[in-house]
Amino acid sequence: MVTGKGGTGKTSVAAALALALAAGGRRTLLVEVEGRQGIAQLFGVDPLPYEERHLTDAPGGGEVRALAVDAEEALLEYLDMFYKLGAAGRALRKFGAIDFATTIAPGLRDVLLTGKVKEATTRTTGQRRAYDAVVLDAPPTGRIGRFLNVTAETARLAKVGPIKSQSEGVSALLRSPMTAVHVVTLLEEMPVQETVDAIAELTTLGFPVGRVIVNATREPLPAGRAVTRDELERGLLAAGLPADRATVRDLHAEARDQAVRRELEETLRGDLTELGRPVTELPLLPDGVDRAGLATLAEALVRAD
Ligand SMILES: Nc1ncnc2c1ncn2[C@@H]1O[C@H](COP(=O)(O)OP(=O)(O)OP(=O)(O)O)[C@@H](O)[C@H]1O
Ligand SMILES: [Mg+2]
Repeated sequence: MVTGKGGTGKTSVAAALALALAAGGRRTLLVEVEGRQGIAQLFGVDPLPYEERHLTDAPGGGEVRALAVDAEEALLEYLDMFYKLGAAGRALRKFGAIDFATTIAPGLRDVLLTGKVKEATTRTTGQRRAYDAVVLDAPPTGRIGRFLNVTAETARLAKVGPIKSQSEGVSALLRSPMTAVHVVTLLEEMPVQETVDAIAELTTLGFPVGRVIVNATREPLPAGRAVTRDELERGLLAAGLPADRATVRDLHAEARDQAVRRELEETLRGDLTELGRPVTELPLLPDGVDRAGLATLAEALVRAD
């Protein structure tokens, strides 16, 4: 599971993780559940259907497959599995019953989405698991606790029957060592605060927290004392660069801002270390998250093991 504050790089990190885990001939499934088509956008492919398909090869002969889980399709699949509905299920959809069920009960939606993730994770073909790993581009930190815990709630509410056992099964898998919830953050105050809060909530709810992934980090500037304007001017002149007042003033202000920022980043790194989880830093990619960038992030994740 990959969660994090909105915009911190969940989708990019989830994709890089799926690549990293597929390296060397393994097979992984990259899943999204929010109907945003973030995976298709990232890889520049057509919108993903509710169907597992080849996404990309991984280094060393591995394969990443992808799936966009749709709650309505998952409900039909589920009803069919337990009640052999077939055509009746399609009729339900025609009358809007499926739409109704998944809209009226947002909890049901999440049960279906996590249920599908469990199904893919535990599926076997012959003696082997279908996937070596399943990576979920999960909802953001603000919603992750409820998203993962909804099956436990449902298991409590439903007294008997397939919904109860299904929910209990999902809830158990999500709390087992097979699951790790990784939290992506940036070295900024809000995402770090959300990371701290999310890890506290996940821990209280009993979900295994994985790594803290600090995304888009910059090489730290060499530490040292603050540079003076005179030194800047002399340095510029020595390098044969313009050293007028405005340039020196602007550079001086920039150096001061960088120093303040570095100090803040060090404080935030400290806050993250105190969480007691393994911390992995990923670099800021100058050209954004293209295919080469994804490979760079995947390599950094492999090295972090
Ligand atoms: N390491 C990085 N270096 C440079 N750019 C990055 C990096 N990681 C992510 N980005 C860029 O940041 C933006 C947000 O990334 P991404 O879509 O993965 O985040 P997200 O958490 O999934 O966002 P959302 O909450 O909207 O789903 C994208 O434009 C992405 O290309
Ligand atoms: Mg995303």
